[in-house]
Amino acid sequence: MKRILVTGAGGQIGSWLVPRLRELYGSSKVLATDVRHSGAESEGGPFQVVDATNAKAVGQAVMRHRADTIFHLAAILSAVGERDPRLAWHINMASLESVLEVARQQNCAVFVPSSIGVFGSSSPKEMTPQETVMRPETMYGVTKLAGELLCDYYHRRYGVDTRGLRFPGLVSYGIAPGGGTTDWAVDIFHKAVREGRYTCFLGADTRMDFMYMPDAIRATIEVMEADPTRLVHRNAYNLTAMELTPATLAAEIESRVPGFVMSYEIDPVRQAIADSWPDHVDDRSAREEWGWAPSFDLAAMTVDMLEHLSG
Ligand code: SER
Repeated sequence: MKRILVTGAGGQIGSWLVPRLRELYGSSKVLATDVRHSGAESEGGPFQVVDATNAKAVGQAVMRHRADTIFHLAAILSAVGERDPRLAWHINMASLESVLEVARQQNCAVFVPSSIGVFGSSSPKEMTPQETVMRPETMYGVTKLAGELLCDYYHRRYGVDTRGLRFPGLVSYGIAPGGGTTDWAVDIFHKAVREGRYTCFLGADTRMDFMYMPDAIRATIEVMEADPTRLVHRNAYNLTAMELTPATLAAEIESRVPGFVMSYEIDPVRQAIADSWPDHVDDRSAREEWGWAPSFDLAAMTVDMLEHLSG
């Protein structure tokens, strides 16, 4: 991993990953790309507008930058995907296909984020295994699962070094997530700091896995740096740091923001998506195959989020 191209650099993950990659590998070595130029992603290094669904444009950018590794982050998330399923299929699959083809032709390694969204109601909810029944019920989940299979195919058939992680909900400050089911766990912090109250679109006891962004960024880099001979489940690893419900996160915030009030107005579409996802995944393969261990628990994440947002 010496020369890197990132798609979706202006998104929630990209806005954290690009600066970290630049710190580790050198600013000029990391080309940030996105379908539009929002400003922040071009700070501190090269940026280019690239539509990741356009294989020719991706191919030219990879060639000019002489990239050997692609972090393909561009995607439509679950709630937006349910509003326009065809668009979600097109963006998520066409971009992945173009990235994989370019990687095959130009000999690049590829990282693709997958998601707890690959699971569905028929998957076991507790300690959801690495390999189990996977019948996702959202278009987002369908594209992420198809994406895992396509990455496996490119690895097996063409030897492309594809690697991925099934991220849980990601909590971060800075750029907000773009329309997912887990966005409440980000929104709640902003509202707590600004207004002292939050109305949650999921029910109080909806359980799901979460992770603080610094851990997600570290996991991304660690899996890409891992010894390839140890990676059995390369596309993609179950991953978690903590299990949350809106009620438990609200209580944690309330203990640090006195007077914080949580109320609930359930959005049936996002509630149905959340209910179809695991309560808690089993991430032992990640721990065993490349040494995954989270460093932020609920308390540490809450303290850090509140500190950054209040500052
Ligand atoms: N956080 C994503 C979403 O809610 C799932 O990976 O869509």
